[in-house]
Amino acid sequence: MIKIKPILDEALLKLKTANIDDIESVRIEYLGKKGKITEMLKNLSELSIEEKKQFGAEINIAKTKLNDTIENKKKDIATKLLEEKMKNEKIDISSSFAFPFSKGHQHIITKTIREISDIFVSLGFDIAEGKEIETDWYNFEALNIPKDHPARDTQDTFYLEGSQNLLRTHTSPGQIHIMEETQPPIRVIVPGRVYRNEATDATHSAIFHQIEGLVVGENITFAELKGTLTLFIHKLFGQEIDLRFRPSHFQFTEPSAEVDIKCVLCGGKGCKVCKGSGWLEVLGCGMVHPNVFKAVKYDSEKYTGYAFGLGVERFAMFKNGIDDMRVLYENDIRVLKQF
Ligand code: DAH
Repeated sequence: MIKIKPILDEALLKLKTANIDDIESVRIEYLGKKGKITEMLKNLSELSIEEKKQFGAEINIAKTKLNDTIENKKKDIATKLLEEKMKNEKIDISSSFAFPFSKGHQHIITKTIREISDIFVSLGFDIAEGKEIETDWYNFEALNIPKDHPARDTQDTFYLEGSQNLLRTHTSPGQIHIMEETQPPIRVIVPGRVYRNEATDATHSAIFHQIEGLVVGENITFAELKGTLTLFIHKLFGQEIDLRFRPSHFQFTEPSAEVDIKCVLCGGKGCKVCKGSGWLEVLGCGMVHPNVFKAVKYDSEKYTGYAFGLGVERFAMFKNGIDDMRVLYENDIRVLKQF
């Protein structure tokens, strides 16, 4: 009768140095259909009952032992392989060699829009989007700028060929869309791109950005307009900034005003940016004109409201000490990197 122990020892020894492929060969050699241990089990029938019992138990113990050893060995190898893989594939995200390019960031105009929007959101305003392609009604008529009115001359308009449409010259038509779609109370800003048919220079561009504001409700007053816009300017430029409300005229507001801040580039002494005045005009505002309410079928006896509009590029320039608007569009990487 063959002894089981030497056969088991032999198999265990082979496993000690086995790689993943060897393990499978060892399993087949001993535990496969024609494996050495399997054969022994088959041969049990030739033995007496007593021998069968004893030898059968020994073989089964050996079989289990070998099986367990094989499984453990497989697990060990798999773990080692994984550890090795993780070691080799480890990425040092703090290494500057990993990605030898500097990170990109938002453009200064985007940043400025977000900074201004964040302030108004903190004051309870929603953000809405208008349309860049508008009709004469939304861009002018509904805003109390009738056809042939001289006020149209201040906004040289791009008309779209072969249609009644135009590129909006300001974000104010956003007011009309909002009032057509919702009922008061309204407290919203509309940031967006606007277009004017004018030559580019240090303070003008044919394409630029504005943020419109609109607040409508019962008992909305000019005092609230003043308070909100003063708070906004202080949050953006700091508590120390000098500002003033100056009477002005817009077709869609009555009364109207403009807000100036003390020139941040020269401190009020007078420079090319403030054109020697010491003041920078930063926004237009006023109480919504009853004709505008009429255009959107609001009851102007019941509701009052205020509106304002500001040019994003001007804010981007004033906040960052830039004295020429063109640098915002030229995308010179040496300039962009600074902001
Ligand atoms: N739409 C005006 C412009 O582009 C800016 C403006 C002024 C908007 C006064 C307003 C406002 O809402 O009340 O020049």
